[in-house]
Amino acid sequence: MLQKTCRDFADAELVPNAATFDRERLYPEEQIKKMGELGVMAVAVPEEYGGPGLDYLAYAIAMEEISRGSASAGVIMGVNNLYLGAVLNFGTEEQKKKYIPPYTTGEQIACFQLSEPGNGSDAGAASTTAVKKGDHYVLNGTKAWITNAYQAGIAVVFASTDKSLKNKGITAFLVPMDTEGISRGKKEDKMGMRGSSTSQVIFEDVLVPKENILGGLGSGFKIAMKSLDGGRVGIAGQGLGIAQASLELAVDYSQKRIAFGKPISKLQAIQQKIADMALRIEASRLLAWRAAWLKDNDKPYTKEAAMAKLSATEAATFCSHQCIQVLGGMGYVSDMPAERYYRDARVTEIYEGTSEIQRLVIAGQILKEYAA
Ligand code: CAA
Ligand code: FAD
Repeated sequence: MLQKTCRDFADAELVPNAATFDRERLYPEEQIKKMGELGVMAVAVPEEYGGPGLDYLAYAIAMEEISRGSASAGVIMGVNNLYLGAVLNFGTEEQKKKYIPPYTTGEQIACFQLSEPGNGSDAGAASTTAVKKGDHYVLNGTKAWITNAYQAGIAVVFASTDKSLKNKGITAFLVPMDTEGISRGKKEDKMGMRGSSTSQVIFEDVLVPKENILGGLGSGFKIAMKSLDGGRVGIAGQGLGIAQASLELAVDYSQKRIAFGKPISKLQAIQQKIADMALRIEASRLLAWRAAWLKDNDKPYTKEAAMAKLSATEAATFCSHQCIQVLGGMGYVSDMPAERYYRDARVTEIYEGTSEIQRLVIAGQILKEYAA
């Protein structure tokens, strides 16, 4: 039912507008509010905190259907859910009551600030500092590539409270984005995902009360890693959405386009492409749903989430590339969405951990499993 609801919503509200969000770099404000009404801005948040109380399988499915309509709307939703997962799993009761409900409706959105100009993959090397001063911490530094930075009302910010402890000195803070001393860099001019904002966030002597520490001093890196395990199930869903949209467009076009006297879908070279696309999508979808099922059943799923993210985002790149090929010249112009799918797909292999980092995570887990 959720899948159908999201698909109908995407067909009615996202598919017709996705090119405009992309071309005009437009934040889809109205659609995000409607997504809040559908419950997808806070899929796994229990009803007592304002969410629909669904699970990560539902999240993977919703991310696929929304991203099939507009990958920009998908990433806005994904980062909001990433923030909510961190607060839900590591917040005190007081923090959950204060910092979850306003971000479940789509009226206000959140962001997740881990990366910095000097360290993205090496997330444990945070150089943003948080120094204790009485009942507050003073934050200084620059976060980079922050999705939703221009719209977000709240952030979870990862900063070092003790550099000598390296990743064990990182602490997570809940920081309202209107706090004095916070400023935003220019909006990044991106290849894709242009309906979502991405920018640096600069902290200059930002005072954050000590009650806003999330999950305890020094536990920030593990909070980030555990939250990203869940987030990667969502980005797998996003990759699937882009891949599925690419497949549907390629199939539809191939049945209508006539070359050498018959639809190109009759050509075996085109059929091979359709088969390869469908195969990667089905395999990735099973990986994503399996990772979600493991999480929902409280079983370890770090490796499976990384596999799902890697497979589905590589499927997105592959399928959007093949889609352009099936469309020929029409694939290369913005009259058709194929070139947007291709541009949107590309970053899914970069954010929430690059494909190289997913391989490191997968290999690390396998080597542990087989350790003598
Ligand atoms: N769950 C729980 N604990 C974990 C963990 C996990 N998934 N991964 C690591 N840890 C723990 C380890 O067990 C270890 O704990 P101990 O010291 O107690 O043994 C500790 O964390 C350090 O682990 P590592 O030595 O493996 O850490 P590392 O410094 O080598 O880094 C990494 C590992 C996988 C490369 C990690 O830095 C990483 O994931 N990098 C990618 C960063 C990333 O994904 N950023 C995304 C930003 S958000 C974003 O992009 C938003 C968006 O989509 C739009
Ligand atoms: P680097 O870490 O410099 O990596 C460069 C290259 O080296 C990559 O190919 C990488 O795979 C490779 N590499 C690095 N280390 C290794 C290694 N150990 N082994 C093998 N290869 C390696 N971050 C946030 O915190 N919040 C957000 O909301 C957010 N949104 C984003 C939105 C967009 C549009 C983009 C582009 C990025 C976003 N990010 C966000 C940042 C994103 O997570 C990082 O870009 C990503 O983790 C990679 O970091 P980096 O760009 O510093 O690349």
